[in-house]
Amino acid sequence: MQTIAVLTSGGDAPGMNSAIRAVAKVAAARGVRVLGVEEGYDGLIDRRVRPLTIETSSGLRVDPSLERVGSVGGTVLGSARCARFRDAEGRKQAAATLDGVAGLVVIGGDGSLTGATLLAKEHGVRVVGIPASIDNDIGCTASALGVDTALNTIVEACDKITDTASSHRRAFVVEVMGRRSGYLAMASAVAVGADGVLLPEHGRSEEAVVAAVEALVRDGFESGKRRVLVIKAEGVEVPCTRLVRLVEEKLRGAALPTSAVHIDVRATVLGHLVRGGAPSYADRMLASRLSLAAVDALLDAPAEEAEMVAWLSTVRSGKETRDPYVRRFPLARVLSETKALLDGTSAVTQWRLGLLERAEGALRL
Ligand code: F6P
Repeated sequence: MQTIAVLTSGGDAPGMNSAIRAVAKVAAARGVRVLGVEEGYDGLIDRRVRPLTIETSSGLRVDPSLERVGSVGGTVLGSARCARFRDAEGRKQAAATLDGVAGLVVIGGDGSLTGATLLAKEHGVRVVGIPASIDNDIGCTASALGVDTALNTIVEACDKITDTASSHRRAFVVEVMGRRSGYLAMASAVAVGADGVLLPEHGRSEEAVVAAVEALVRDGFESGKRRVLVIKAEGVEVPCTRLVRLVEEKLRGAALPTSAVHIDVRATVLGHLVRGGAPSYADRMLASRLSLAAVDALLDAPAEEAEMVAWLSTVRSGKETRDPYVRRFPLARVLSETKALLDGTSAVTQWRLGLLERAEGALRL
């Protein structure tokens, strides 16, 4: 009987558990055992693995511990950002744990997929990646596990902030996760009708960021708004509380808009709240369909090089799978597209920024 393994690595994302369960189910249905690796590459190096399928008289079954996990955020296998895996020796030990295993499914983001590529290249391990990163910063895929849930969390939080902000006629700067990518800030700003958005991709100085927020606050209250909301991505380097203080200082030194007696600017950092929570329907669906394709890819048509299964609605490049929305891409290509996505040279980043530029004029209205 064949065996495959699955691990989750890097920052957790809602939908990872749905993917773990789906990998176990799909493989079990095909009579293939599944091992779960604990805490990402750390567990792979230390041989911390546990069976996710059990043999019964009626065939292979998914371990009962996975029964309810599909609806739970985080990852039941645990995750880690593993420093040891960056060394060749660590990767050698990790590969040894996979002796006799037909392939590995790696659920994670940029760093995790980079590790997966090296494992395949150096030790011939068959690897298929499933993109998971709330930041939506992975190349060759329109979305990744966790993005939809994270956006829903941000939208819900901003709607609540809007309730209290409009009651007191206040301005808020809300910081959302996204160290290197402003996708969450950009997408949520449009969804919640924010007045402005601050992205790392803009590369603005502190002074320019403060001036932009001051202008938005002034302009918003000047035009009679009851709340002004600015979404800031974590990667914009001015800390939220400092930004708010500097904006208030500037506002204090100048004449107030006629509609305001006093302008109160508050900061809310959503932080890790955005990464937790039960996965949305979209993330569960994505997890299930990507997992099916990942197991198929490992068992039916394993490629020499490491690959990733990607969610694409319109682009028709890449090797096809049984699901018209899911395509397979070599991980090397995914990683170079990810780099371009993050350094701004990717057409996707430029398209996103161009779209936002057009939307920005309308956002503040
Ligand atoms: O998962 C990506 C991410 O959420 C980034 O947006 C954020 O900067 C980072 O993880 C935080 O990671 P950690 O929890 O390890 O501090």
